Amino acid sequence: MTRVTPGHLRQMKERGEKIAMLTAYDYPTARMIDEAGVPTILVGDTLGMVVLGYDSTIPVRLEDVIRHTAAVARGAKRALIIADLPFMTYRVSVEDGLRNAARLVQEGGAHAVKLEGGRSVVELVRRLVDAGIPVVGHLGYTPQSTLQVGGARVQGRAREAAATMLADARALEEAGAFALVLELVPTPLAALISRRLAIPTIGIGAGPECDGQVQVISDILGLYPDFLPRHARRYAQVADTIKAVASEYLRDVQQGAFPTAANSADMDPSLLEGLVPDGEP
Ligand code: KIV
Repeated sequence: MTRVTPGHLRQMKERGEKIAMLTAYDYPTARMIDEAGVPTILVGDTLGMVVLGYDSTIPVRLEDVIRHTAAVARGAKRALIIADLPFMTYRVSVEDGLRNAARLVQEGGAHAVKLEGGRSVVELVRRLVDAGIPVVGHLGYTPQSTLQVGGARVQGRAREAAATMLADARALEEAGAFALVLELVPTPLAALISRRLAIPTIGIGAGPECDGQVQVISDILGLYPDFLPRHARRYAQVADTIKAVASEYLRDVQQGAFPTAANSADMDPSLLEGLVPDGEP
């Protein structure tokens, strides 16, 4: 089985083949996504919300992403695995970013890293690529800036903001990024950026004209019955299934219907005779 590479994604764009990316955070999910043929898996820092229960990506630590990337890497044999550099693990200095990205690759088994930002991170992108670490950029709504921008909002609607995003996208490509995530970007702007770049754009809430799409696995599985971002489509209602299974299990345990002999190990009861002296409980 050949591992998907950044070069393969570029070829897919050239052939006009749409690229699918899904997030995963654990071994079994990564294995299933990989077996389904999805070519790229993102161990996103959405991990913080959808697995660890935080209300943003801000509290996510490098060690969290390393641990979950390693689990994903054990499950996915073919997909290209991209790991997110979490909040402030690449903003203090370029050296810090290099060291932390290296840990995602060496300890987590990631094949590439993703980081948020435009021209402010291109020096780091250049150094990572020079060091042999493939990089994915991330523009539009960048969740690590949520404290500054005040929550998930479409970015680049005004002409000046659109021009800034296009210039950032070009700078990231020029610095060597091999793909670019566009999150919450108006469709016409995402389409323009996609046409202007040779590297693939991967959209989330950025319309159908991006070269690929990324979704958070929990959203498309329906793991959160109460909330679905506008840009997501729920393909299943896994939360309902989990609740129904948990209720059924609870009832079976309470009523003594589980376990049965089929779930249990037998032995010759005579072997237990005399093991407890008479009179002891
Ligand atoms: O962390 C993440 O899952 C992401 C995607 C939403 C693109 O960055």
